[in-house]
Amino acid sequence: MVKLNLLIGRTLSFSSDPFTVEPDDAADYIADGAVLLGGNKIADVGSRESLLDKYPNALRHPYSNSLIVAGFIDSHAHFPQTGIIATWGKRLLDWLNDHTFPEESRFSDNEYSRQVAERYLDLITVNGTTTVCTYCTVHPESVNAFFAAAESIGMRALAGKTCMDRNAPPELLDTAISAYDDSKRLLNKWHSRNRLSYVITPRFAPTSSPEQMEMLGNLWSEFPECLMQTHLSEQTEELQLVQKLFPRAKDYLDVYEKFNLTGKGALFGHALHLSESERQRLLESGSAVVHCPTSNLFFGSGLFDMHGLKSYGLPVGLATDTGGGSSFSMFRTMAAAYEVSQLNRAPLHPAQLIWLATGGNAKVLGLQSLIGNLQRGMEADVVVIDLYSTAAIEQRTKRAKNIWEELFPTIMMGDERAIAAVWIAGRNINHRSSYRWTPDSS
Ligand code: GUN
Ligand code: ZN
Repeated sequence: MVKLNLLIGRTLSFSSDPFTVEPDDAADYIADGAVLLGGNKIADVGSRESLLDKYPNALRHPYSNSLIVAGFIDSHAHFPQTGIIATWGKRLLDWLNDHTFPEESRFSDNEYSRQVAERYLDLITVNGTTTVCTYCTVHPESVNAFFAAAESIGMRALAGKTCMDRNAPPELLDTAISAYDDSKRLLNKWHSRNRLSYVITPRFAPTSSPEQMEMLGNLWSEFPECLMQTHLSEQTEELQLVQKLFPRAKDYLDVYEKFNLTGKGALFGHALHLSESERQRLLESGSAVVHCPTSNLFFGSGLFDMHGLKSYGLPVGLATDTGGGSSFSMFRTMAAAYEVSQLNRAPLHPAQLIWLATGGNAKVLGLQSLIGNLQRGMEADVVVIDLYSTAAIEQRTKRAKNIWEELFPTIMMGDERAIAAVWIAGRNINHRSSYRWTPDSS
């Protein structure tokens, strides 16, 4: 018998992309709604009354006037940087050398990898993130630890071994051949196992030799069903370094193009300082870019041109980029995206922000038929948002005249206190009792 859980509250789902259709037409909001979880799938979405009638035997979970949405998705993060998040005062390349690389060196150790992977998953699920696409370190141990931890909570997760064979400390370097061999072995072990996906992961052009990028391009052509993730055009000093390392490349994107590392399934983090030609070629190739606003602000990297790139038709994701990004929270990330959009004089609508963190990210990860929306048949990853979670938010929310006004203060000021419940694959992750989750006994 499939277990039926009826989540009762307000529901928000999307029938279209709110960047191409007016937010009120793109969104389906039910003020008196309910979502039925049948085992690990969403079995029905509708009005409270109709679902109570249809499923009298379902176990009821009344969430009063909280808002039920699809679980948040984070499309670019570095779980091994959990312990060095919010380190002061550096720009990207110095931060990598002084903080990131020493910390990432610790992940040759299985036990440390396991501890951080579990801590990281606690920290993101408590913030309502039910799927993440993360970089690991160069060590296969970090990949095994992350996937094992994600699998143990039934999470849909994507990850890959970070490949790097130059311009980093020797203990963090692989080679062109070992990067290919290790990635392929890990891919064969983890890709498509339960809810896990392997992502081919060259860190970025400065830390991969041409030989390594060529081998990873070959690996991707052997496994085109996998995603490929890397960084592109994040900070000006990095652009200069790329130009020095690849003097014959016409621009940064050209480096990846030479090694067949663009195309459908390619995810480029940051993408800030792009020429017109690079934008056009990204679009033609079918690649996606990922906006990492807290990270771009934290490092002073630049302002992502959401409006320009979306109107080009480029798929765009939204991500924390933990720990260059200064948060584990997709609310904080949405808030930073809003602030950046204000600086660009094209403010994002609350519907666009929530959509980016759910359906938009599902789309760039190629998972839009499985996650990122409240829709019958989709996987039961759901977050319940308390729109009155703090006194500061409550006094603002009380004045709201519609759902967007009611949601926006939580987007801007909300944190894990606003996450009333998290369901992963139809299981209630009861995170409020402690930082370690326990499966709901009901
Ligand atoms: N570019 C290459 N590696 C990294 C990283 O770990 N974080 C960020 N923000 N940018 C990078
Ligand atoms: Zn990154």
